[in-house]
Amino acid sequence: MTILVTGAAGFIGANFVLDWLALSQETVINLDKLTYAGNLETLSSLQGDARHIFVQGDIGDAELVSRLLAEHQPRAVLNFAAESHVDRSIHGPGDFIETNIVGTFRLLESVRGYWSALPEQEKSAFRFLHVSTDEVYGSLSKDDPAFAETNRYEPNSPYSASKAASDHLVRAWHHTYGLPVLTTNCSNNYGPYHFPEKLIPLMIVNALAGKPLPVYGDGMQIRDWLYVKDHCSAIRRVLEAGRLGETYNVGGWNEKPNIEIVNTVCKLLDELRPKADGSSYATQITYVTDRPGHDRRYAIDARKLEAELGWKPAETFESGIRKTVEWYLANPQWVSNVQSGAYRDWVSKQYA
Ligand code: NAD
Ligand code: DAU
Repeated sequence: MTILVTGAAGFIGANFVLDWLALSQETVINLDKLTYAGNLETLSSLQGDARHIFVQGDIGDAELVSRLLAEHQPRAVLNFAAESHVDRSIHGPGDFIETNIVGTFRLLESVRGYWSALPEQEKSAFRFLHVSTDEVYGSLSKDDPAFAETNRYEPNSPYSASKAASDHLVRAWHHTYGLPVLTTNCSNNYGPYHFPEKLIPLMIVNALAGKPLPVYGDGMQIRDWLYVKDHCSAIRRVLEAGRLGETYNVGGWNEKPNIEIVNTVCKLLDELRPKADGSSYATQITYVTDRPGHDRRYAIDARKLEAELGWKPAETFESGIRKTVEWYLANPQWVSNVQSGAYRDWVSKQYA
């Protein structure tokens, strides 16, 4: 059996494929455009593994996608491919509209063409799983209950609006054409192979380089953090047993203000890689201008996934963040290779 996974040279997709191939004999077709965020080095342990077939290409390339589907006959398509960074979406929303909305539309159409022609048994077993975000629900105030699947969509950034649009397309392809879809809306992930443009890896990398640790605004914005491998296990579970047309919120019940995250990273680094002068990495914290339209609080109510599908995260925030910091300390080459690529142009402009 085969699955087609899009965007699997990125942070979560690559973690998903590494875990999938460690647990299953199924072949993975990995379709990734290799934007600045796509990094095949993350998948270097799969070199020579015939179960991983990498294809560089765009989810919006209907001819390519249709050919891959016809050739490999996957039983499922998992769509991780996206432009994923909120700050980039503020500076240049075009790619977000192109990939997250138009690309998802074109992918859905290619998949619909393939799925409609499948024999009855394969047709009913087929799944299209769309990986989305909690940001589609907008921002919570301090005392609001966590986001449930029934919350209204109120996206605030170009990124979250583009993801919300893609979720709506996926929903419509189910209701209109009967495409067997599943959607997951997850909170902030962290863990190995996370691009150092996002909060946690940026703080680790900047701290070690002796650079400022830029905290937006007052640092009291709240995010709900989930270790990436727990997101991957949730996706596997939804793929296996999720009800068609349903959305499932995925989160770790780990709401934390950003400044607490940054201080935790600093404390771990103080313990694991103390500075020669004995000072704390926390002295590098620098408050900077806030992100425009910055959402104040996200929180995920994951009870549907837990009760219906019996999913539970394996890591607490404390265990997951320690593993993450240890991973970055153990993999300086991965970090420096990312930094020497196109990624550096963006970071040097934004975070110099
Ligand atoms: P990422 O930016 O690290 O990786 C995205 C991958 O998609 C890259 O490998 C990139 O090359 C590829 N890609 C981009 N445009 C493409 C296109 N047009 N065709 C084919 N490939 C393309 O992102 P991530 O953090 O791994 O996020 C993966 C998915 O999970 C996204 O859909 C994102 O919205 C969602 N998500 C992310 C988080 C998070 O905290 N990172 C949380 C919830 C949901
Ligand atoms: O909630 C899920 C979303 O989480 C995903 O859909 C996105 O793809 C993913 O990028 C992430 O979005 P955020 O905007 O929450 O992640 P980011 O790491 O960019 O920022 C986390 C918080 O930290 C946010 O409140 C902004 C703040 N921040 C971020 C950076 C990069 C800082 O204070 N300083 C920084 O330098």
